[in-house]
Amino acid sequence: MKKVIYEAYGDADVLKVADFRINEPADGEVLVKIMAAGINPVDYKIRKGALKFIYRAKLPRTPGGEISGIVEKTGSTQSAFKPGDKVYAMLPISVGGYSEYVNVKEDLLSLMPKNISFNEAAVIPLAGLTALQALRDKGNISKGMKVLINGGSGGVGMFAIQIAKAFGAEVTAVCSGKNINFVRSFGADHVVDYEKEDFTKLTDKFDIILDAVAKSSFGKCKKILKEKSVFITTIPSPPVMLRQIINPMVNKKAFGILTKPLSKDLDYLTNLIAQGKLKASIEKVYSMEEAANAHKHIETGRVKGKLVIKMNH
Ligand SMILES: NC(=O)c1ccc[n+]([C@@H]2O[C@H](COP(=O)([O-])OP(=O)(O)OC[C@H]3O[C@@H](n4cnc5c(N)ncnc54)[C@H](OP(=O)(O)O)[C@@H]3O)[C@@H](O)[C@H]2O)c1
Repeated sequence: MKKVIYEAYGDADVLKVADFRINEPADGEVLVKIMAAGINPVDYKIRKGALKFIYRAKLPRTPGGEISGIVEKTGSTQSAFKPGDKVYAMLPISVGGYSEYVNVKEDLLSLMPKNISFNEAAVIPLAGLTALQALRDKGNISKGMKVLINGGSGGVGMFAIQIAKAFGAEVTAVCSGKNINFVRSFGADHVVDYEKEDFTKLTDKFDIILDAVAKSSFGKCKKILKEKSVFITTIPSPPVMLRQIINPMVNKKAFGILTKPLSKDLDYLTNLIAQGKLKASIEKVYSMEEAANAHKHIETGRVKGKLVIKMNH
């Protein structure tokens, strides 16, 4: 089977396709024939060595934190899955998804929504779970809340708008002018074009601000947060980490998020997808051989929605 690997940290051109043996699934694991793998900024950050201080990857490494595919074989006879099941998952950081096959712990797998393609399913787990765990678990989102999503056109932002709408919130999305119609297509009630207006100077006040692209800060957003409110960022800065310590004592709380690969949360998203409340938009599909170009693309920071690698098979 083929895998995309890199043998040393470096720029996108370190990525190459290599042949490997398929390993038998251990007890509690499922061998998945991967049909597609989503691409996320963390994939290139690890490849560049930018996260070495928190995660030292074992080399050679296969990037990719989310997949969709078909169950090929189960490691235990008592499995909840059977060959032929269509599944999707967020993978633990040590397991790479740009591969034709992977062994996944079965408690990380969910049955794929029936109404979407493998490419669409592959791009949902990591960014979708980030948006859900941020808004629901950190933000305590509920009906009628005013929620602002900074970076509504990115992977996390696109899902966050829809999840906030599914909870009955009034959503303001921040994006550039070219993406206004795109974020509106996910249900944003109001849109702020960051090229024309600084959202931190709005007169409105918000119950939750999710800085999905981590381009703003708690300090700048504080004045547009309601008296009892939550600021959440995808990349916690030292002030946010400090604030987390005093959160129990203050009304304006700040959190950084570290997404957990929970299949019960993925099942929650599956339910939203089945109800037509959550969809994915893919800007471009790449092959395994084009992984370097896919990484150059995501590194621009300008992706609209998501990128995906479709496996050859
Ligand atoms: N902590 C965690 O567990 C966790 C989980 C998931 C993601 N993350 C992190 O969260 C960040 C976002 O992830 P993602 O997948 O959503 O990224 P992404 O899809 O690559 O984000 C790209 C989008 O960001 C928009 N953007 C760029 N600059 C902006 C700005 N100043 N204001 C508003 N929008 C802007 C771009 O639109 P324009 O071209 O229009 O600017 C583009 O649509 C990444 O840094 C990622 O590593 C962390």
